[in-house]
Parts: sequence; C-alpha cells; structure tokens
Amino acid sequence: MTPNPSPGDLPGLPELCYGGDYNPEQWPPSVWREDVELMRRAGVNLVSLGVFSWSRIEPTEGEYDFAWLDEVLDLLAANGVGAALATPTASPPPWFSLAHPDALPVRADGVRLTHGSRDTYCVSAPAYRQACARIAEALARRYADHPALRLWHVHNEYGTWCHCDHTEAAFRRWLAGRHQTLDALNDAWTTAHWGQIYSAWEQINSPRATQYLHNPAQLLDFRRFQSEEMRAAFTEQKEILRRLTPGIGVTTNFVLGDWVPVDHARWSPSVDLVAVDHYPGDAGRAAEEQTAMYADLSRSWAGGGRWLLIEQAPNLIYADGRALAKEPGRMTRHSLSHIARGSAGVMFFQWRAPRGGSERWHSAMVPHAGADTAVFAEVAALGALLPGLTGIAETRVTAEVAIVADIESSWALSGPGMPSSDLSYEAALAQAHRVAGRAGYTVDFVAPGADLSRYRLVLVPSLYLVSDADAANIAAYVEGGGHLLVSCFSGVADEHTRIRTGGYAGAFREPLGIRVTELRPLAGGESVVLDDGRTGTLWSEEVGLTGAEATARYADGTPALTRNSYGEGLARYLSTRLDDAGYAAEFTAAAAEAGAEPVLADLPDDVEVVRRTGPAGALLFVFNHSREERRIEGVSGEEILSGETADGVLVLKAGGCAVVRE
Ligand code: GLA
Repeated sequence: MTPNPSPGDLPGLPELCYGGDYNPEQWPPSVWREDVELMRRAGVNLVSLGVFSWSRIEPTEGEYDFAWLDEVLDLLAANGVGAALATPTASPPPWFSLAHPDALPVRADGVRLTHGSRDTYCVSAPAYRQACARIAEALARRYADHPALRLWHVHNEYGTWCHCDHTEAAFRRWLAGRHQTLDALNDAWTTAHWGQIYSAWEQINSPRATQYLHNPAQLLDFRRFQSEEMRAAFTEQKEILRRLTPGIGVTTNFVLGDWVPVDHARWSPSVDLVAVDHYPGDAGRAAEEQTAMYADLSRSWAGGGRWLLIEQAPNLIYADGRALAKEPGRMTRHSLSHIARGSAGVMFFQWRAPRGGSERWHSAMVPHAGADTAVFAEVAALGALLPGLTGIAETRVTAEVAIVADIESSWALSGPGMPSSDLSYEAALAQAHRVAGRAGYTVDFVAPGADLSRYRLVLVPSLYLVSDADAANIAAYVEGGGHLLVSCFSGVADEHTRIRTGGYAGAFREPLGIRVTELRPLAGGESVVLDDGRTGTLWSEEVGLTGAEATARYADGTPALTRNSYGEGLARYLSTRLDDAGYAAEFTAAAAEAGAEPVLADLPDDVEVVRRTGPAGALLFVFNHSREERRIEGVSGEEILSGETADGVLVLKAGGCAVVRE
C-alpha cells in the first residue's frame, strides 16, 4: 500500500501550485473550453473543483450525475491542470434539507435556519454525516484513478455554529470525555457561581440564548467542542478518501476570523497539507502586515513546513463595507509574500467571475470583462514568473524570534464580563508581529507548550489563558537562558478561565519577578505617559516587584515596565499596551540583549524582507509596499524576477518586489 502523505509533503502536486476555485457547473461546456485555454495562458496547474456542486452531482437522493464532471476532469487533465477535488459537503442540496429537517442548524436564539444559502447544516446531525460519507465515497470511487486528481479538498471552511438537540447531545458526550465526572465539570466551570451546579449531564445545554451573561467556561468549552466536532466530521471523510485513494493528500481550507469556532493549531495535525484562505480586512498598509502575519501563522500550523494559500482575492479587499480594487502589482506582492513565508503556491477565489449568485461581485482571475483586462494580465504574469522559483521547496524560513499564540486566549478574552472589551488578542499579536517585521525580523508563531529552545527571544502578547504545564514550559525556557517579553494581562487565567489568585500575571509571576495586585483598564481615548516618555493606552496595572527591576514607571511612581533575571535567562513585562514606537523600543532592546539578528538591519519604511535558506543557498524576498522607490542596503546576489544583479544595494520601484538568490 502507498504510504500516506506526511504533512506538507505534496505527492503529485507541482512545486508551486497556481490556480483557483473553479465552478464549471455554473457555465455551459463551451465556456469550459475557453477556461482551459485561458488556464494554459495563465500558467494554471491546479484548480479547486466542485466545492459547491453537490446538488449538481446528486440531483436527487442516491442518483448521481457524473457526466459533466467526467468531462471537466478530462479537459483539465488534457491541458495539464490538476484538480484539488472537493467533497461538496459545505452546501447540501435542497432535497437533503427537506428530507432531513433535523439536520438544519439552530441558532442560539432557537430559530432553525432554512435552506437558501450555503453552510446550512448541523455538523452533528447523523443524517448529514451519513450523507457526507456517501458523497465522499461516491467521488473517491469514481475518480480514484483519474489523472487530474491531485488533492482532496474536503468541505469548505469548517466554521459553522449550531445549538440543536443533536449538537447538545454531542456536546454532553464531549464534556463527559473531557471532564469525566460532573463534579469535575462543576469545579472547572465554577457552577457554584449563580447557582448553576449540574446534577445530571442532561441538564447541560449548549450556550443558547439566556437571560444575562453566559458562564465563560461553558462558552469556552463549547468552542472547543465545536472545533473537535468539525474535526471529527472532517476525519470521517478523510478516512474514506484515504482508504480509496491512499496516495492522494487530503486537506480542507481553513478560514480565519474571530467568529470561527475552529482551533487551527490543534487541527493541523489532522490535515495532510495546511491550506488557508486569506482575505485582508484593511485596504491600507495593514493589508500587507495581515498577509505576513497570517502567512507566518499558517507556517506555524504546518510545523514550519510547507502549507498552501488556497484562496485569496485576485483584485479586491473588503474594507468598510466596500469591495475595493487592489492597485496594480499588489496582488503579486501579496502572493509572493505568502510564498516567501512558506506557501506552496498561490490559489485564488475564484477562476471566473459568476453572472449570478451571492458572490457575483467577487473578483476573479477572469473578470466579467474577460481575459483582455489588466487583472488577467497580472494573473498571467504571476503565473509566468512562478516557475522561475524552482528549488524553493528545498528552502525554509528560519526565525530566531517567536510569538506565543493560542486561540483559546482569544476566545477567553472575548468572553462575557471582562474588565475591558478593548483588549483584543488579535491586536496584541498583530502589534508584536508588525513591530518585529518593521525592524527586519522574521518570526515564527508557536504554541505555549512548544519547544522554545531554538529561539533567542520569545514574545508573549496578552496570553490571558494558560495551563500550568504550558506556563511551566515557558518558565523553563527562561530558566534555561531564554529571553522573554510578556505583555499585559498574561497568565491571568487557567485553562478553565478561572482566575489564578494571589496576584495577576499569576502563571508567570515567578519568571517575571512581579506581582500584579490591581487591574486598571483605561477609558476609551485615555492614555498613560511613562517616566521615559513612552505612551500606553487601553490598559494599566498596579505592579509590585518581587525580584524584578522597574525599567519605566507610571506617573504615580509605580512600576510600568519591568525586567527580571531568572535562572540563566531574562524576562520583561509590559503592564500597559504601549504604542508601536514604545513597543518597538522594548522589542529592539530585548532582541539585542538576546543576540537575535534581523534579516536586514535599518530597513527603509514599508519594506518587507524574508529570507529562506536551504542546502543550495538562500533566497531573499524583498517587497516595497510604499509608493516611492526604495534603496535597500545589504543585498547582494542575482535577482530572479528581473535577471539583474544586486551588488550591496537593491533599488526597488514603488510597489515592486524582488527575489534575490544570495
Ligand atoms: C471564502 C469561501 C469562498 C468564497 C470566498 C469569498 O473563502 O471559501 O467560497 O465565499 O470566501 O471571499
């Protein structure tokens, strides 16, 4: 039997995948022929096929129409295009919902949703799971030996919510597995608060609409449960596909967003290839910084190896309720930034802009106006330059700085009854990542329990929730000589969102050498100025020193920033949310003290750099996100995109990018 693919190993896939979501079911066959012709012109080698085609493949229960899909797959194969063939389970057909009304999802307020959009199913409903297994098996049997089949794309963006009876039954089973006894659950959830002590499992609900604030531990466990429930649904399909097509990798596309009840870090070992959809939510410079951050997160989910940007928009950024067009060249920079940070290619949503349907205004590689457009020209130009990056799969990003990230802290921080609703976890992660990037450092993201020993500096932004074991892991890193930079409201709660008593920053009090006795969230617009001139917003704390020294103080003379020697290492603490300049000063000092080196020092503004190294040498990716020419010092080698040579200085035009073989 062919061995199963290992994560990031891409059997049968090109070194760099290029293509997008392809929905031929929306078009007549004459358009398919034009599609493959244009795919050849654009250098497309992989398409995600059939993502929403269940009602076309199985028009009535148990009766399949594969003829159209046979023809499309044959056409793709004949034109050298592979298929990431989808199981279409994110959008069950109307007949399914009518036959199985109990498989429609129920909102927290008790309203059962109706068919008419997509993602309208309950992932715990037995009828839905059985139907998913049947369609996955039918597709695998039909196409196991098709030459176009390169990858399985299970489902689409797992991330739905449901509060129906099936969900609650599954939630109770999951809770019994996690907590073992009701006593343990009552303890973990602190149910003595507000008289919620449970005396039978059947009394426990999902966090449906209720009178006042929910129990935060129940909310957190419900998110964990949903994540695991969706992982189980994915795994059921994966096992069927593996059994019938053992040589083909199986993945699903991760969707990012704080509404998504999926823990991608914990999910990732279940997929053969981490595949991520990325749509920046800001049209300004933040779009590039979000691209960089989520690409680095994706690489961390892939264990440092290759992952795939499986969806991005060719020509739009949704921001402020508008679909804003990307300036020429921006799509190319975003694409190469993903590749620099480990993506095994560039895929888009979508190949051809549809005439109707909810996403008729979503941009596409082939716009409504056709192929004779600037958008298609940029798509084709990118497709033409990717083959020049041969050998990239042999290279890896190496980082000396890491940021500890855990979605559970984000979920817990967004829970009810918090001291401030302004302290966003994502904003804390983004600031740490942005500041490091602007200073020329590439960072890895790591889980709190990961081996940290290879990093010189580890940043811990607002890690509100942390288990004892993970806190001990981080403390041991410092004790062994590591350098740590922790920011406010970290280490406060245990894994059940229970506050650690005896002083905040509880889990990290020892390595930090501090004891926080009061939290002092700031009002909107309020700021604090420290005695070294730095400014903090959103948050402040009353910090007591139990070994650390104060490196900056609040106006009342109490410590604001601290520094502590612990074992062989050093741990710093920031008890307010410093502005970027203030955080940058702390970061640079900490990095210098830790001996961490930037990829390039003294970067001009709005220039991004990433180095990939491998046995045959290094590739330096350089991006100029500004609207002016930039001179970047310290760059030497052959520039692959232009064929020119940089000898100590690289000059990049506004919006330009370069890949230098050093
Ligand atoms: C997601 C989905 C696609 C499409 C795009 C639009 O990533 O997977 O089906 O809806 O968003 O941006």
